[in-house]
Amino acid sequence: MEISRRQSNSRWLRGLVALMFALAAVGMLAPSFQAQQQLLKMAIPRGLPADTWDYYVPRGNPMTAAKVELGRKLFFDARLSADGKVSCASCHDPKQGFADGKTVAEGIGGKIGTRNSPTLLNAMFTPNQFWDGRAGTLEEQAIQPLINPIEMGNSSHDEVVVRLRGIAEYRSEFLSVFGGEATITRVGQAISTYERTLIAGDSPFDRFIAGETSAISDAAKRGFALFRGKGRCSRCHTFSDAMPLFTDFNYHNTGVAANHPNFDKLARQAFAAAETGQAKSVIDQLAQQEGGQELGRILISYHELDIGSFRTPSLRNIALTAPYFHDGSARTLAEVVRFYNEGGKANLNREWDLAPVALTADEQRDLVMFLESLTGQLPKMPPEQELAKKN
Ligand code: HEC
Ligand code: HEC
Repeated sequence: MEISRRQSNSRWLRGLVALMFALAAVGMLAPSFQAQQQLLKMAIPRGLPADTWDYYVPRGNPMTAAKVELGRKLFFDARLSADGKVSCASCHDPKQGFADGKTVAEGIGGKIGTRNSPTLLNAMFTPNQFWDGRAGTLEEQAIQPLINPIEMGNSSHDEVVVRLRGIAEYRSEFLSVFGGEATITRVGQAISTYERTLIAGDSPFDRFIAGETSAISDAAKRGFALFRGKGRCSRCHTFSDAMPLFTDFNYHNTGVAANHPNFDKLARQAFAAAETGQAKSVIDQLAQQEGGQELGRILISYHELDIGSFRTPSLRNIALTAPYFHDGSARTLAEVVRFYNEGGKANLNREWDLAPVALTADEQRDLVMFLESLTGQLPKMPPEQELAKKN
């Protein structure tokens, strides 16, 4: 008892000293910087996780109106790319549900990527970014496209930072938002803060769940029942009060990867490598081959059960972002439903319980009607209008 009290006393003292230092430091900063530090809290639309909001905003990157505005500018600014022609918005276009409507992404100089551009709507709720989950936070993700040779094409992060420091407007904005000059970490912090304003809920389906029985059609209601029942969709596209994003945030092999002619060969090689314990070096090499990106989550985890697995996407606002799947191979929601009706696509690692679900043509239509009821209210542009209550 004695010891623990002394420990807690000294912890308290250390806290007090730290607080005094912090207050002194704040006092020394430029007044304009202090004025910009008012914390913002978003108004969370119906259907999205409101109670846990604070959990999704990292402590090290608090949300302020000025930071959102700086992030918004950076997001739409093609000067962040090596040739001055590609911005984040080129592939995450607000008019296309923050995706791009293309099969797979097209970056700098028209270079073609290997994967479909996902929406950024509600991306803040995803614990791991990218189809294979290779980035953790939005902060970590946001700086990767800048140096991706087929996206924004810069040879280094320094190159981007030097360019931004040379733009007078950004110089003063970074100073007032961060109390210092542009760094790559701050670029990532500003962009991801803007991304946290891109939330869309309050769909007809959410109003239905809240008790407005006529908010969706009878067909959509039947579709919801099929989604949770005969269609077995909610086995991966989880929907509950605690998990309202229609995803389990997990990785599954539905067989989309097997669309690629090289997948079977590469998957066998990856499987053999994983068994011998040589996984990392062999799989890193396979990743570089034509079709290698189709190996999916195993490229990150090196675990054979992840061959051809991709993250279950959220289905909120899904009607806005055709074409579908990580390779953009399904042009419409009806095509997606047909794919599942046949049990996905067979391959050596297909999800063990994915089997044909035998939905009739009417049932398939009902399921699509349900998916279409998941389109929410989009954030207004410019999005700072959506930043409601100040803390
Ligand atoms: C050339 C097109 C292109 C550009 C430019 C681009 N992206 Fe992307 N973005 C993609 C593609 C394709 C993916 C999926 C890649 C993958 O999963 O391997 C992606 C994934 C993401 C994700 C993860 C979403 C999820 O659901 O996993 C975020 C967040 C994101 N991009 C933000 C940005 C930001 C911020 C910028 C600008 C700094 C940017 N993107 C620039 C095409 C692009
Ligand atoms: C075994 C888990 C699982 C089941 C069951 C499942 N899905 Fe999926 N769903 C996924 C995964 C994983 C993806 C991404 C696949 C890929 O692109 O490789 C996906 C993708 C989708 C997409 C495309 C999303 C986008 O942004 O491109 C839609 C739409 C969809 N599923 C709807 C459904 C419907 C409807 C059902 C039921 C008939 C269903 N899913 C059953 C795991 C599942």
